[in-house]
Amino acid sequence: MGEHAQKRLIRKLDLERFLSKVATQPNPQVRLEQYTISEQIAANMLYIAAYSNGDVVGKSVLDLGCGTGRLALGASFVGAKDVVGIDIDRLAIKTASENSKQACLADGVQWVLGDIRAVVGKFDTVLQNPPFGVQTREADRAFLVKALEVGNSVYSLHNHPQVDARLIKQLKASQGFMQVQASPFLERFVAHNDGVVTAVYAMLMIIPRMFGFHTKLKHDFVIDLYVIKRKSDNQNF
Ligand SMILES: C[S@@+](CC[C@H](N)C(=O)[O-])C[C@H]1O[C@@H](n2cnc3c(N)ncnc32)[C@H](O)[C@@H]1O
Repeated sequence: MGEHAQKRLIRKLDLERFLSKVATQPNPQVRLEQYTISEQIAANMLYIAAYSNGDVVGKSVLDLGCGTGRLALGASFVGAKDVVGIDIDRLAIKTASENSKQACLADGVQWVLGDIRAVVGKFDTVLQNPPFGVQTREADRAFLVKALEVGNSVYSLHNHPQVDARLIKQLKASQGFMQVQASPFLERFVAHNDGVVTAVYAMLMIIPRMFGFHTKLKHDFVIDLYVIKRKSDNQNF
């Protein structure tokens, strides 16, 4: 655990402040869908994992497709026992490593340059913001398969199945998250891979104009956080 890691409950605002200082991808690649998670969504995700479900503090955590390390570093900051972040992009891993030194959390997080498909081992918790499959169809599926292979609890972000203007309005007003139904397809996919979806939370993602094909200054859309347990390790399911 890094020297700033804490076992006491951290205020969400303090967590957001910490995450906002974790530098974003300096040269994002379209092909790898290198959108950095916003500090608000990362804080919501870590809060749900840590304080609603007890899946971060004192646990081993894996961040699949870690990018510049917001989720991994957030987990370490909240009090994970040990954290591994893996990404296929060299610059992302370099930035993540610099970010961990900057945050004085270099001892608690191990960065790995490689393909998520090469990961072996067992982790209490997997956190992931995978490519949604906009550039490469179904890119998020390989992440789910790997997460359920190596993790006991999985927190995974996915595109909300349809554009829902009413939900966007509600999320803007609440500035938080709302529980929604799982997509039947993802629910079946998870079940097929020995998992069970225990909750889904919709959140508002705001992406600033990053790539040439973006026509608006910012793009608001809904993403869903899937909370998943692996059946074989959780006999209650
Ligand atoms: C949407 S970005 C999320 C980055 C970071 N987790 C975040 O939330 O800010 C997806 C990340 O997955 C990485 N990635 C895509 N395919 C990968 C693969 N097969 N193995 C490892 N990393 C991969 C990309 O380089 C990118 O950094």
